[in-house]
This record gives sequence, structure tokens and C-alpha cells, in this order.
Amino acid sequence: MAEVTLQNVTKRYGQTTAVEDMSLRVEDGELLVLVGPSGCGKSTTLRLIAGLEDLDGGTIQIGPQVVNHVAPRHRNIAMVFQNYALYPHMNVYKNMAFGLRMRRVPRAQIDQRVRAAAAILGIEGLLHRKPAQLSGGERQRVAVGRAIVRDPAVFLFDEPLSNLDARLRVTMRTELVKLHQRLQTTSIHVTHDQTEAMMMGHRIVVMHQGRIQQVGRPLEVYDAPRNKFVAEFIGSPPMNFLEGELRVEQDRWTFRTESLALELPAERQERYRPWAGKRVTLGIRPEHMACGNGAAREGGWSSASGQVVVAQPLGAETILDAVCGAHELVVRVDSHQRFQRGDQLTLHFHATHAHLFDNDTGAAL
Ligand SMILES: Nc1ncnc2c1ncn2[C@@H]1O[C@H](COP(=O)(O)OP(=O)(O)O)[C@@H](O)[C@H]1O
Ligand SMILES: [Mg+2]
Repeated sequence: MAEVTLQNVTKRYGQTTAVEDMSLRVEDGELLVLVGPSGCGKSTTLRLIAGLEDLDGGTIQIGPQVVNHVAPRHRNIAMVFQNYALYPHMNVYKNMAFGLRMRRVPRAQIDQRVRAAAAILGIEGLLHRKPAQLSGGERQRVAVGRAIVRDPAVFLFDEPLSNLDARLRVTMRTELVKLHQRLQTTSIHVTHDQTEAMMMGHRIVVMHQGRIQQVGRPLEVYDAPRNKFVAEFIGSPPMNFLEGELRVEQDRWTFRTESLALELPAERQERYRPWAGKRVTLGIRPEHMACGNGAAREGGWSSASGQVVVAQPLGAETILDAVCGAHELVVRVDSHQRFQRGDQLTLHFHATHAHLFDNDTGAAL
């Protein structure tokens, strides 16, 4: 078994706390993605697991063993770095064989493992080439191949796709998912790209300023972000936020701004009660508003009128920037709805998809 367990892990560099009190369990065979903006502590977390950095607090376990004081080469993990770190003077075969030769694996076994990994990755034809003679995508495959030949208990991937162009990135992330399905090795993948995280991870771990913000399956996190940071970070284009008041009149609860009144369902009143009468922030995703003509809708819908400022047709959908009173909103509509700059529109909101956040802490209500 090769689950990875972090308990209260902390790492500081001088005044900077790169990772703070991080506890996490990666299941055996899981593909877990750490995601967050640049500087949030993703690489540091991987480097701690790999043993390339010392801990300032906490414990790290790989399988049953606490590895805090185990040297990197004895942790049975393989790491793929963002810059691939291939040896320029060695050909692909030698790059892939190098780690095994250092471990004094018999020559015949090295040969068999290198050729098997090359076959999995479709790079058998490149074994004699030097890194300078490879495209970015091919180099990336070699870097992965070098990790595969080790047959480790855990793979660590640190932004392995970020040096590739956009199209290749999309292809390669599917390749990495397929590779994981085939090898079923416990893997921790790091990225700053929330789409990549959502698409690849069995579970995702959203990090910010060295701390875990939320752990969950991708759609769990998307549907129920625990705070405003997660709500804004996961989803593209990002969630819209509007500041307003949680108003209670008899038993009608509404979220109100100068230009919008959204009726809130009775079953949430208990949950929202501590914020009754207070200023709060409403979050609503671009895909969770409906655009239509002026006619009102029944059944919990609230409407507001606005005007299109920018319309970006993307083919299957169109992204609209609209002003709606004092608010600027991003709205995702089906591309058969032809909107142009300057068009008037009516936005329909439904409380089912509305998130409310505490103005001070950012916590979801
Ligand atoms: N070797 C180091 N020395 C000093 N500060 C570092 C070092 N490595 C990382 N940091 C700091 O720790 C924080 C987390 O960095 P990192 O883990 O690389 O973030 P990420 O990979 O999420 O972009 C950042 O503030 C970064 O500047
Ligand atoms: Mg990094």
C-alpha cells in the first residue's frame, strides 16, 4: 500500500511560511491534484514529500513508514518537474535508464523497463535522440518515462504541462489520466490551472497562502465552495460577486442590492439566520444566470435588466460582460442567443445556484 499521509506539516523559509499546518491523506492508487495560485505552497508540499526539503513541523508517512528522516532515494517516489530536468548530453534511452543505473539495477532489466515505458508513452522511435532534438511534448514524455521506469510507489508531478502550448497541454493531460488508469500508482499532481485540476483529479486540494482551503471531488468543490477564495478560483470564467444585504421582512428573506432582489428559499432561513439584516456577498456563476426577454419567470426566479458591454462568441457558447445597475456581471449563454454590444437584456437569477458569503471572513454561509 502506498497512501501518503501528511499530518500538521509546516515549512518556513525565514519569515515566509510556505506550508502551514497541512493535514491530508492521499489514498492508495488515487490521483490527487494540488491546485492554487503561484506561491501558495504547492511545490514546497511536493518537495517535502519527496524529501528534498526538511520539515519544520508535522509528519509525513508513505505507506506505513514515517519518512521525516528518510533520504529521498529511499522513499520510493519519482518526481516529474516542470522543466523536465533532462540531461542534455544523454540520449532518451540513457536519460530514462540513468536512475536505474545509479541504483545498480542489472542491465537486462534496465533495458526491459526502458523499452516497456517507451512503448507505453509511444516514444520507442526517439530512444537514440538527444533532448535538444525533441519537441516540448516529446521531452515531457521522456520526463514521465524516466519516472515510470523506476516503478515507484508514488508519482509526484510538479506542473509538468505548463511548458507546453495550450493544445498540447489538453492532449497531454488526457494522456496522464490514461497513464494513471493503466498504472494505478498513487499520484500527486500539482497545477495552478483549475481546469486541469478539475479534469484530472479524483479529488482536488485547493491551496492559498500555504493553507488547505478545501479538499473534495471536483464537482463537490465546484457546487459547494467553502469560502469565497475557492468559489472564485474554481470555475471559468470566475463566479460573479455582488455585495448587498440579507433582508428579512416577515418571513420573506431576500438578498438585496440597489438593482437586484433575489428571493431566498425558506429552507435556508435557519442557516442564514445569524446574518439576517447584515451586509453579505452573493456569488453566482456565469452559467447559472439565464438571459431572456423582459418577461418575469415564476417559481423562485428574480430578474434584473442590464446591457451588454462585450460579447465574446466562443462557438458553443458566448461570454457576455453586462452591466446591471451598479454591477458588472459575466454571463455565459448558449451561442444561439445572439447578443451584441449595446443590446438590452434581462438576467434571471435563481437562488438554487446562489452562494452567500460572510463579508469579513469570506466563509460560505
Ligand atoms: N527556497 C526557498 N527560499 C525561500 N522562499 C521560498 C523557497 N521556496 C519557496 N519559497 C516561498 O514559499 C512560498 C511557496 O512557494 P512554492 O511552494 O514554490 O509555491 P507554488 O509552487 O505554489 O507556486 C512562496 O512564497 C515562495 O516564495
Ligand atoms: Mg511551484
